[in-house]
Amino acid sequence: MALYLLLVLLLCCSNPAILAVSTNVHIVYMGEKAKDDEPQLLLNSHHMLLSSILGSKEAAEESIVYSYKHGFSGFAAILTSSQAQIIADMAGVVAVIPNRIYQLHTTRSWDFLQVNPHLSHGILLKARSGTDSVIGILDSGIWPESASFRDDGMKQVPAHWKGTCQKGQEFDPSHCNRKIIGARWYIKGYEAEFGELKNEDGMEFLSPRDAEGHGTHTSSIAAGIDVENASFLGQGRGTARGGAPSARLAVYKVCWATGGCSSADILAAFDDAIHDGVDVISMSLGSTPPLATFVDDAVSIGSFHATGNGILVVCSGGNSGPFPETVGNTAPWVITVAASTIDRYFPVTMTLGNNQTVSGQSLYMVTYLNEFYPIVYGEDITRDDADGVDARSCTSGSLNATLAKGKVLLCFETRTQRSAAAAARAVNEVDGVGLVFAKYPTKEVNLCLDVPCAQVDLTIGTSLLSYIATTSDPVIRFNVPKTEVGHQIAPNVALFSSRGPNSLSPTVLKPDIAAPGVNILASWSSALAAQPSGGFKEGNDYPFKFKFASGTSMACPHVSAVASLLRTIHPQWSPAAIKSAIITTASSTDEYGYATLAEASPHKKADPFDYGGGHIDPNRAIDPGLIYDLGSKDHAQFLCASGYNATAIGSLTKANEPCSKIKNFLTNYNLPAIVVPKLHRSFIVSRLVTNVGPDFSIYTARIEAPAGVDVVVEPSVLVFTVGVKKLRFKVKLCSKIRAMGSYSFGSLIWEDGFHVVKIPLAVNFVV
Ligand SMILES: *[C@@H]1O[C@H](CO)[C@@H](O)[C@H](O)[C@H]1NC(C)=O
Ligand SMILES: *[C@@H]1O[C@H](CO)[C@@H](O)[C@H](O)[C@H]1NC(C)=O
Ligand SMILES: *[C@@H]1O[C@H](CO)[C@@H](O)[C@H](O)[C@H]1NC(C)=O
Ligand SMILES: *[C@@H]1O[C@H](CO)[C@@H](O)[C@H](O)[C@H]1NC(C)=O
Repeated sequence: MALYLLLVLLLCCSNPAILAVSTNVHIVYMGEKAKDDEPQLLLNSHHMLLSSILGSKEAAEESIVYSYKHGFSGFAAILTSSQAQIIADMAGVVAVIPNRIYQLHTTRSWDFLQVNPHLSHGILLKARSGTDSVIGILDSGIWPESASFRDDGMKQVPAHWKGTCQKGQEFDPSHCNRKIIGARWYIKGYEAEFGELKNEDGMEFLSPRDAEGHGTHTSSIAAGIDVENASFLGQGRGTARGGAPSARLAVYKVCWATGGCSSADILAAFDDAIHDGVDVISMSLGSTPPLATFVDDAVSIGSFHATGNGILVVCSGGNSGPFPETVGNTAPWVITVAASTIDRYFPVTMTLGNNQTVSGQSLYMVTYLNEFYPIVYGEDITRDDADGVDARSCTSGSLNATLAKGKVLLCFETRTQRSAAAAARAVNEVDGVGLVFAKYPTKEVNLCLDVPCAQVDLTIGTSLLSYIATTSDPVIRFNVPKTEVGHQIAPNVALFSSRGPNSLSPTVLKPDIAAPGVNILASWSSALAAQPSGGFKEGNDYPFKFKFASGTSMACPHVSAVASLLRTIHPQWSPAAIKSAIITTASSTDEYGYATLAEASPHKKADPFDYGGGHIDPNRAIDPGLIYDLGSKDHAQFLCASGYNATAIGSLTKANEPCSKIKNFLTNYNLPAIVVPKLHRSFIVSRLVTNVGPDFSIYTARIEAPAGVDVVVEPSVLVFTVGVKKLRFKVKLCSKIRAMGSYSFGSLIWEDGFHVVKIPLAVNFVV
């Protein structure tokens, strides 16, 4: 399975989790650096502080893993817990945070989003495909030879770029070009945790080179150039391209194929990215609840400083859906992305011995199955010594090899075995020739690489079971699978996409937005380390140049690309303004005008805990009309109001504002969403909107009230002029319900006859 990084990379089907590590790496975090702090002086001060504890300069140099000196001040060092304790009490030290390990979360999609170079007023033309924009990718590195990263015809590297191309194993500065303009790698935090990364099996590269595939995939989704005739073994054939095909990539390898991403490494990458001059940071990695507090989490801290430096940070929300309160990366200053489906599917028909046909989906099938093979039900060929291992789901070790050999297996998803890919591996182990895997219907198609496989729903699985039971020699033939576009209702929020509410800070709506993340075809690493056993012809089929993957990891770089295009069009906008534009213009209906659905059981209308403001609509985000803006001071106030003490916040930001006494700051924090977790009778929320449309604009409020709530907006008309750019309004919510309930959802919409500026409302009742 895919990696989860110390932060886990968010490929679907992986289980992101913070590993409990008995580490001795500690991050000594010293807050925002003063504008005039010289990096060299900071470095010296870190050494001095550490020397004073460890007794000598040599011991300090030995112990220090990283010195953070660009975006913020601090260092990572190997310390005993008592040393950590002493340092924590020293002046200037905000916090001493134990190192954590996170895990990684895993092209039709751009056309589906109408991000199309031929659209005359579209975002790509307006942003010149993102040519001046640099997207920093914190991930598992990059495969620089992929056709997606050629730099043919690309202009000079943007003048503001100060990064570097760091050499390492099978990677040197010649691997950077005008597309990949920077590449760095970070392993000290990882090695301090797990010991030296021994690379005898060639599973990794001690360099920015990607052995895993995840970072290559996310990078090409964000900024790959057009590659014609791309496909995965013929499926999904077409032109592959990234969302901002002229944007530049800055690669920060923080995740290792052998096991995750360390927070010390992640912070070092943020520090460098701030120094290097990236415009947007895309991070498809994270951890699952219980979430670390905002001052203990490397992603929150790093992204806080990046945001303060004008960099928009986009994160995946995790793949732990459809259960509530599973969303991760929930800091209010980042964009947290949910995954949705697109309108492409991969039908395959199967013919039975009685000439009936049934259909399913398949991403890969080899033609040798184009004749009849016997089909058996996994449970009917359980090994005598299976000992509780479930053959119904084709769990490894459960199948009798004598009886499976040469046959197609029918298996059903169970609570403990939901993966067709794992079932295909088990079928291959017993020399089965194919797999029909029945599961509850979702649009995600598992990629089986060990034997040809088709995924069917439970109804078809059940009819196959009955065919097997009632026929003396049941046989099945797989036909060649196809790729169909445009005939599948989309988008739906993907089943696996992590859901709100936000378990760390319930007034901050998460996720923020949904973007395509299901069955996404993009570039892959050509590292030969882990060749699957599917009978691929090396050099012809394998290594895979492009590959399908699903996950919020794939959704995240879609939003990163759009953010980078918006930055090019509106260079003066703050990160919060770009985020607001993306959220308030999102769509909540499908292409036929029906409400977007969320995959769950059963399917339901998507609500803000599934997809925040809705599904991303890049062309509308160019011209949002109004924005809900925020800056670092607001974020600091948010931390105050959330109960973080002055020591922690005062040093996170040198702004040095006392915690304000603004009542109900948490609900009045100017986010483009209103969540009231405890509505008792009535409550008033205020917001400030900034006009970024025509100088003279008159907006009228429209409310789609949550069930059980009366909503009044005052004033209900906003008049903007040359001199009036910002206006405040109040939203009064009155509960009509005197019972504890679940959340109820609605929207607040400002309209001027042209712009529709919509934010979600989510209200929970208490008695
Ligand atoms: C696309 O690639 C396939 C092999 O993957 C090749 O057979 C086919 O001719 C190519 N088509 C075009 C139009 O280049
Ligand atoms: C299946 O169809 C083929 C041709 O369409 C026919 O020759 C054959 O007899 C049919 N078999 C059964 C079992 O109906
Ligand atoms: C597998 O099935 C064969 C044939 O029924 C039987 O002889 C053998 O004992 C079985 N082996 C196991 C491990 O269940
Ligand atoms: C500030 O909060 C941290 C926990 O976040 C705590 O360890 C520390 O003791 C607090 N400091 C003060 C002065 O209350």
